[in-house]
Amino acid sequence: MTHDVLVVGSANADLVVPAERRPGPGETVLGGDTTISPGGKGANTAVAAARLGADVALLGAIGQDPYGAVLTESLRSAGVHTDLVKAVARPTGIAYITVTPDGENSILVSPGANHALEPADLDGALAGVKIMVASMEIPLPTVERAVAAAAEAGARPLLNLSPAAEVSPATLAALDVLLVNEHEAAWLLGTGVEPEKLLGLGPRSAVVTLGARGALVVTRQGTTEVASPKVEAVDSTGAGDAFTGALAASLAAGASLEAAARRAVRVAAISVTRRGAQPSYPSAAEVPEQA
Ligand code: RIB
Repeated sequence: MTHDVLVVGSANADLVVPAERRPGPGETVLGGDTTISPGGKGANTAVAAARLGADVALLGAIGQDPYGAVLTESLRSAGVHTDLVKAVARPTGIAYITVTPDGENSILVSPGANHALEPADLDGALAGVKIMVASMEIPLPTVERAVAAAAEAGARPLLNLSPAAEVSPATLAALDVLLVNEHEAAWLLGTGVEPEKLLGLGPRSAVVTLGARGALVVTRQGTTEVASPKVEAVDSTGAGDAFTGALAASLAAGASLEAAARRAVRVAAISVTRRGAQPSYPSAAEVPEQA
């Protein structure tokens, strides 16, 4: 079966603990009650896009355990096609997340089953796909194969370079859109953020997310700033994935990159006003397309 958007990436159970502050090395800090919710950068992206009405499939890997069932249920209830999610003999990925009162998070990921996602899993998966969006937290050869296979199949390859990792020049050059936050951009460029320089790495365009300030859309025609609505943030977990999913959904529906980014900042802004990653993502009715 073919789908407009194929997301290639991780699926994790998010174990979230609210805490006044993070423990330092060798220190123990008592936090609040743990909540378990569906997450993982790939699954988050797919759910965000599906909630907005996109026809989307996830290519991912989960374990044969209760966390895998939580993820499958969340994906399916959002309308994500799960035929390309394989169940493997490793534990489902887990993200240990601390959220402080300012809404900031810190995350430690145990990838588990995500590491079983192989380049060969891409075979035949790109037929008819319009937008392929990959993120990190899965093996690098699989990410690079996903980008190459998308380009070969005539799909637009998007890469959310999160968490930041070194990818080959050939992969960067094959990208339609490189998505990074400010830290990832600085890491890539080895300097302060000069967004135009991202295009020198090879992608046709780039989007730099700026948290509460919005995003920058970088094309050969120039750089456009897209402002975010002002909101009261309670939990920023998964906001970047919400942005990525929304961007992919709008591009699949034929929007320009700038129009897609304008909607994506609104989607991400709503997501930070609610707790969790996937549970915080809005429906299409909450974020109508703007003229
Ligand atoms: O981007 C947020 C996500 O990062 C969380 O859902 C967590 O699972 C980690 O993958």
